[in-house]
Amino acid sequence: MTEFEIINPQIYDYLEKTLAETDPLLREMGEYGRAQGFPIIGAQVGRMFDFLARAIQAKQILELGSGFGYSAMWFARAVGHGGRVVMTEGKLSNVERARAYFTRAGLLDRVEFNVGDALESAKRYAGPFDLIFCDIEKQDYPKALDVARAKLRIGGILLYDNMLWHGRILNQTDAATRAVLETTHQLMQDETFVTTLLPLNDGQTVSLRVK
Ligand SMILES: C[S@@+](CC[C@H](N)C(=O)[O-])C[C@H]1O[C@@H](n2cnc3c(N)ncnc32)[C@H](O)[C@@H]1O
Repeated sequence: MTEFEIINPQIYDYLEKTLAETDPLLREMGEYGRAQGFPIIGAQVGRMFDFLARAIQAKQILELGSGFGYSAMWFARAVGHGGRVVMTEGKLSNVERARAYFTRAGLLDRVEFNVGDALESAKRYAGPFDLIFCDIEKQDYPKALDVARAKLRIGGILLYDNMLWHGRILNQTDAATRAVLETTHQLMQDETFVTTLLPLNDGQTVSLRVK
């Protein structure tokens, strides 16, 4: 069950069971994340991201906030041969764990690791990207929108996780919550994107760049 019951708990458990990882390595990574209390997107969201990446035949993906590589593993599988996932992560220990998983998966040739601030790392890449996923500190979510505007191709997809922010969007006013709300508002107003907000796990905005 989630910390904040965004959906009926029994339905949530049903989705967890039905949409669980079938790939053994992804399942192992998911179990590691859950055991450590490491915030990963989980299989419900992983499947949706996998679906979206494949639907637009994404080959170039930028991920802001990669952790130990769980979400990037979904993307690396989705991009197929010749595809590339640019990963960014602040903590070296997470990147080392990610590298070990990608080595085991035989997918090292599909990922690039960047250690350091994600927004700084993104400056090294001109793009255009087919898909950008943002999962960094919430205060930096509005800045990630500038990255997406500069580097996402028309027809590409921008994804943000934690857009329901464990329910805090309803009644909190701290900086992280304000940043989540501001980013949501900006996305909804921005005519270069068509955006929706899905209530899987902690909520994701899905934005298609149309201009
Ligand atoms: C929610 S976790 C990412 C989980 C990952 N996307 C997944 O679902 O498997 C957020 C990660 O982003 C990293 N992070 C947060 N802010 C960052 C920043 N500004 N630059 C680089 N890494 C950042 C944290 O160290 C953490 O590992």
